[in-house]
Amino acid sequence: MKILVADYIYTPKGFVEYQAVAFDEKIHAVNSLESLLATYPKAEIIRTAPHSVIYPGFINTHVHLEFSANKTSLEYGSFMPWLDSVIANRDELMQNCDNKMMQKECDNMLHSGITAFGAISSFGTELEVCQKIPQRVVFFNELIGSNAQYADMLYGDFLERVKASQSCSRASRVTPAVAIHSPYSVHPVILEKAVTVAKQNSMPLSAHFLESQAEREWLENGTGEFKNFFEKYFNTSTPVTTIEEFMHAFDNYPTHFAHCVQATKDELAYLSSKGHSIAHCPRSNRYLGCGRLKIEEIDLPFSVATDGLSSNDSLSIFDELRAALMLHNDIPIQALAAQLIKAATSDAAEILGLNCGKIEADRLADLVVVTLPDLPQTKEEVALWSIIHTKKVSEVYIEGEKIYGK
Ligand code: BEZ
Ligand code: FE2
Repeated sequence: MKILVADYIYTPKGFVEYQAVAFDEKIHAVNSLESLLATYPKAEIIRTAPHSVIYPGFINTHVHLEFSANKTSLEYGSFMPWLDSVIANRDELMQNCDNKMMQKECDNMLHSGITAFGAISSFGTELEVCQKIPQRVVFFNELIGSNAQYADMLYGDFLERVKASQSCSRASRVTPAVAIHSPYSVHPVILEKAVTVAKQNSMPLSAHFLESQAEREWLENGTGEFKNFFEKYFNTSTPVTTIEEFMHAFDNYPTHFAHCVQATKDELAYLSSKGHSIAHCPRSNRYLGCGRLKIEEIDLPFSVATDGLSSNDSLSIFDELRAALMLHNDIPIQALAAQLIKAATSDAAEILGLNCGKIEADRLADLVVVTLPDLPQTKEEVALWSIIHTKKVSEVYIEGEKIYGK
């Protein structure tokens, strides 16, 4: 048993002062050091640096590791020119992205406090790295293909990747999962089959949805920038589905939808009524000119996610949280900071079906220590100071084992 002591602990009841956490692989109790020592007299006591806060490990629910080679290759600013640049540069970016590069980005995530993430995988090339790293990975095998002619072949390839992710050892902390690329890029017949695979195997399910205005226009009217795109690359000129039809395909299975920036209030209410959730990607949405998710208006659970380096500049959860503070500039900042911390911990864990994300008994002991440069004036300010001041966390524990820190 270990007992980790800090000035503050972030618990489901908020920040508590002068307490400690007792844990082995799982968290056993949160209490004063004296009481914990009375129960666990042989425990190893670990004292954190002054002004430290213990958080549950942060969770990045949506990231594309395979695109980690992008720095300046892709065109930012507007969704359609960006997608065109992805098609033009995809092969080169994939070639330049080796295991070493992906491993480095997983380390960067770890140092920012990310102990679990949802890897959206187009080709399965990051599976080897995801099995080696200490973090928990929900491995979302992505299905793509709107053209009926190639749909069966693409679906077959998808099934092979699902199988490969199912054969990971338990020690790897990989959970196999299913991702649908988007309503514009997946034929409804294979979409339905893939949703069935997720349901039958109780796998987490995810999809990009209503990321851009162009996507909305294409799905609603069959017009706009996507028309040229599909004529150019796929020799087609009509969308394969509608917004309604796509949403209905997920009616009976809670799904994690990335972006939803262009969803209407009614559509968001519908997603909420079906138990779905949103991966909110502030920097990706800003960099691709997609708009702002009105988090102050939504009543469904959301996480905060980095998306890939194909639409971002880092995979740090704290960089993302700082961006969220700036993007939602009309929301009172203390309340927003508290909401963002919850989104990136307990809400994200619930969304991905992971038994972590909360510092309470019986949760997996995925813990991080954030050390502030000075003492906060009140505990209500700890969330904001943590977001503003943290570039790297000072310690990381996964399932009770120290992975990072002195
Ligand atoms: C498609 O198969 O329709 C597709 C693939 C990549 C990007 C966009 C659409
Ligand atoms: Fe994405």
